[in-house]
Amino acid sequence: MIYLDNNATTPIDPVVSEKLAWFAKNHFGNPSSLYPIGLEVKEMINSARENIACVLGAARSEIIFTGSGTESDNFALRGIFDASQEKKILITSAIEHPAVIETANYLEKKGIKVIYIPVDEFGMINLEFLENAVTPETGLISIMHANNELGTIQPIKNVVKIAKQHGIPVHTDAVQSFGKIPVDVHNLGIDLLSISAHKIYGPKGIGALYIRKGTKIDPLIYGGHQERLLRAGTENTIGIIGLGEAAKIIKERRNQDNEHIDRLAYKLKNGIEEFIPKVKFNGHPKERIKGTVNFSFEGLEAEAVLLALATKEIYVSTGSACSEDSEEVSHVMNAIGLKPETARSSIRMSIGRFNTDDDIDTVLKELPEIVNKLREITAIDF
Ligand SMILES: Cc1ncc(COP(=O)(O)O)c(C=O)c1O
Repeated sequence: MIYLDNNATTPIDPVVSEKLAWFAKNHFGNPSSLYPIGLEVKEMINSARENIACVLGAARSEIIFTGSGTESDNFALRGIFDASQEKKILITSAIEHPAVIETANYLEKKGIKVIYIPVDEFGMINLEFLENAVTPETGLISIMHANNELGTIQPIKNVVKIAKQHGIPVHTDAVQSFGKIPVDVHNLGIDLLSISAHKIYGPKGIGALYIRKGTKIDPLIYGGHQERLLRAGTENTIGIIGLGEAAKIIKERRNQDNEHIDRLAYKLKNGIEEFIPKVKFNGHPKERIKGTVNFSFEGLEAEAVLLALATKEIYVSTGSACSEDSEEVSHVMNAIGLKPETARSSIRMSIGRFNTDDDIDTVLKELPEIVNKLREITAIDF
C-alpha cells in the first residue's frame, strides 16, 4: 500500500503505539482519584500536557484536552461568544475547515454576524479586507494556520497585528500546521489554537485547545472539575498519553521529517509536471506546507483518478475527507476561483513521515498511465 493521504489522517507512530499498549496494560486509574493509581495517571496526563505546551511555547495550564480538532474549533468559537454578550461579530475566512464553518453557521443562527475574508488564487487571505472588516463589535477573528486542501499558510502574525490594534482575540486552527512548521503561540501572538493528534502520528479522537492565560472563555462541557472546569468529563487518558507522546516525537524529529517530506514532495510535484500534460498545481508557490501536493488534471473527474489509483493500492484524496461523500465542489477550490470542472478534477496527495522514495517512484510510474488511459476513454485529445 502507498498511503499519500496524510492530511486526512496519519498512521500511528510505532513508538506511540507501544506507549499506548503499555499504558492500557498497566494504568487504569481515574486521574481524579486521590490514591496512588489515580495520582500516577494524573501525573502522566500533566506530562503529556507539558510535551504539547513545550512544542507550542505555552504554559502547561494553557492546554485543554478535547475530543478532536473539530471539538477544539467548536470550543474556541462558541466559548468566546458565550463569554461575551456585547460582541456580535465573528470574522473568519472562506477556506476554513467545516469544523469552523459549521460552528460559524451555528453562531449565525444564535445572532452572531459572520464575515468571511476572501482569498486569492493561491488561497491566501486578503489582509486589506480584514482590516476594513474589523469593528469594535468584533468578538473573535478565526483564521486557519495552514489549509488542509492546499497547504497554503496564512499570515497569522499580520492577522494578530490588525486584531491587537482593536483588542480582538484571535483563534487559529493549527490542525494541519502543528508538527509540520514551527507553531509558537508567542511568536504568532495567538490567543487560541487548535490541534489534533491523528494528524501527527497519534491516535484518533483526541485533540487540544491552547487558551492564552486571561482569555475570557466559557466552558464547553459542564460537570466535574477536569480540565480547569472548562471541559468536564473523565479524561480520555489513553488518547492524551498518545497525543503527548506524538508531540514529544515532533520536538525531536520535526527537522528530519521536514527534510524528508519536502524532498519527496519536490520529486512528486516535479515528476507530475514533467510526465503529465495539462495539469494545474493548486496552492501557494512558496507559503505552503510542502508535503501537500494538489493538482487539477484537465478533462478528468478526480474520483475516477482516485479509484484507479486505489486499484493499485495507492491512496490519495479528492479534497477534504469531510466532504468526500458530497457531490458539491469543495468550498476551498471554489474560493480560489477554480471553474467547477477544474475543481472536480483536483487530487490532493499528502506526504508523511513514513513515505519513501519508492512510493513516489511508483506513483510517478502509475499516475501518468492512469491519466492517459482515462483521457483516452473520455475521448479527450491531448
Ligand atoms: C484544518 C483542519 N481542522 C480541523 C480538522 C478536524 O480535526 P479532527 O479530525 O481531529 O476533528 C481537520 C481534519 O481534517 C483539519 O484538516
